[in-house]
Amino acid sequence: MNVDGTVLVTGGSRGIGAATATLLADQGRRVVIVDIAPEPLVATPAILWPAPFDVASESDVVAGVADIEAAHGPITGLVNAAGVFGRMHRIGRVRMEQWDREINIDLRGTFLVARSVGERMARRRNGAIVNVASIAGMTSGPIHAYTAAKAGVIQITQTLAADWGRSGVRVNAVSPGFTRTAALEAAIASGALSKDLLARPTALNRLVEPMEVAQAIAWLLSPASSGVTGINLPVDAGFIAGSTWAAYGGLPETPEV
Ligand SMILES: NC(=O)c1ccc[n+]([C@@H]2O[C@H](COP(=O)([O-])OP(=O)(O)OC[C@H]3O[C@@H](n4cnc5c(N)ncnc54)[C@H](O)[C@@H]3O)[C@@H](O)[C@H]2O)c1
Repeated sequence: MNVDGTVLVTGGSRGIGAATATLLADQGRRVVIVDIAPEPLVATPAILWPAPFDVASESDVVAGVADIEAAHGPITGLVNAAGVFGRMHRIGRVRMEQWDREINIDLRGTFLVARSVGERMARRRNGAIVNVASIAGMTSGPIHAYTAAKAGVIQITQTLAADWGRSGVRVNAVSPGFTRTAALEAAIASGALSKDLLARPTALNRLVEPMEVAQAIAWLLSPASSGVTGINLPVDAGFIAGSTWAAYGGLPETPEV
């Protein structure tokens, strides 16, 4: 694996995808971003693919990947960051159209893009893919299709890694905790989520920054992680480590003296 070639970032116009595209472009990679609502990134050399690219549409993905390689050369890195959040509901109120939308974009879309790009990488025997899953895929919560989709992303990451390993393609996932994107800030501002309730279970007592997720993704794409494939790396400020401590009275606030 080398750092030549193009990195494709889905969902690159906003949030974690935008932070990742910015970091990789600043590190000197040639980065192309695609999005269903394409918007350029300011002050970075990342290239915007101007046509809307819906990861859940097989024709958009298959044609889009071919056109991007024709315009910008072989894709050697892929970041599957496009996604939609789950709606919070009791089970009886889950609408199946919403279920289908979350599964289609978050799970089926991740598979479609990974397959379209990964088969090309496998033929060239060179590539690294990072799928953005979520701690929601490792825990439970009232976001039913989303948790199932993200658990599926963690699972297909292993399957793709095993399938393409002998073809020189590595596939890994990152699982962000609650990450301070504009979308999450808006949910906090509207009162739908509480910043304190999101931060309190984490060992570090805070939200994750988009650039912290981007740094983990950049490592998994780089030759520095050449021996790593099929893993799911939580970037969660210690949410998984800390979230069971409420049962024991909560996390300690001060050093023991
Ligand atoms: N922010 C968090 O707290 C958090 C936590 C865990 C996992 N994640 C995951 O990280 C990924 C990025 O989320 P984010 O927080 O940056 O959200 P975001 O809304 O800021 O960015 C998501 C981007 O994906 C694009 N997108 C949505 N549907 C698409 C489609 N069908 N095709 C192409 N692009 C599409 C959006 O236009 C947007 O630019 C998602 O998979 C999300 O589930 C986010």
